[in-house]
Amino acid sequence: MLGPVILAASRSDRMRRLISAAPVTKQVVDRFIPGETVDDIVPIIEELTGHGLELTMDVVGEDITTPEQAAAARDAYLALVDRLKELQLGERVEMSVKLSMFGQALEGGHELALANVRPVVEAAAAIGTTVTLDAEDHTTLDSMFAIHEALREDHPQTGCVIQAYLFRTEADASRLAANGSRVRLVKGAYKEPAEVAHQQKHEIDKAYVRILKVLMEGEGYPMIGSHDPRLVSIAQELARKAGRKPDEYEFQMLYGIRGEEHLRLAAEGHRMRVYTAYGTDWYGYFMRRLAEKPANLRFFVRSMLTK
Ligand code: FDA
Repeated sequence: MLGPVILAASRSDRMRRLISAAPVTKQVVDRFIPGETVDDIVPIIEELTGHGLELTMDVVGEDITTPEQAAAARDAYLALVDRLKELQLGERVEMSVKLSMFGQALEGGHELALANVRPVVEAAAAIGTTVTLDAEDHTTLDSMFAIHEALREDHPQTGCVIQAYLFRTEADASRLAANGSRVRLVKGAYKEPAEVAHQQKHEIDKAYVRILKVLMEGEGYPMIGSHDPRLVSIAQELARKAGRKPDEYEFQMLYGIRGEEHLRLAAEGHRMRVYTAYGTDWYGYFMRRLAEKPANLRFFVRSMLTK
């Protein structure tokens, strides 16, 4: 019940100002977004890769309002690639991007986002890694899939995300599984209307399994983006049935959530990639993490009251 309220707040400028200014917020934010700059994040990359984990890096930010901000987002990712080049970790550290941060919602936004993300994809390829396009709200997805297709012409490893809660996703999964794409399947983190998305958890979970089966049986590279223990074991079973070897799919989880499970899966010989966000524009990302688990919100509110 709280989830939709928090998701609505995630789009409110007033709430953004209020929550960002609260002194205690930073401590709670750090659990999910463990740094503001590339310098903060390099030791974390070294620590996690040292534990046998792989990473996908997200420079937080979304819904920008000017082309200059979109260019700044591109430059922030290019600066990250420069540092990754020094670390020489290749595809063990890839990047996730939100196209709304690259200008997708501005006038002429589709072309602008493509023009901004292309140099990041090229720079990533030059150091032996790749980029995955995150899925945002349903109104942005046709453009995201078209950009994904355009980028794959030169860089077929470019990945994208699909969301099990959307009715359209079963068809998207079939297309992407047939054309050999790298695809991260997640449940979905935005507030979506009943006309386009399942609203009940059990419906979303059932859809997740159906879609995962399509991905596992297809030609592409499935990335299982979930912390749900039931789905993790179903994924292992589906991979086995589809005859996939451990390097023919991977698990992905968010930094700060079920960290012991990241290590357990990696120790069992699975590819385990940790989605690690950093930067200063963390509000939207943070609010989605609160919405996913009401206990996070209770902890946050309690911390504010006891300060
Ligand atoms: P579920 O919500 O059922 O959680 C299962 C268990 O995991 C919970 O019982 C709890 O223990 C733990 N857990 C989950 N979320 C938690 C939280 N916030 N805090 C503490 N514990 C938590 N969404 C999207 O719309 N577009 C995208 O591009 C992405 N990208 C993405 C990348 C990766 C690597 C992951 C793992 C997830 C995303 N998501 C996403 C978010 C996704 O849609 C979804 O909201 C979350 O993963 C939560 O769903 P679960 O599958 O983990 O299941």
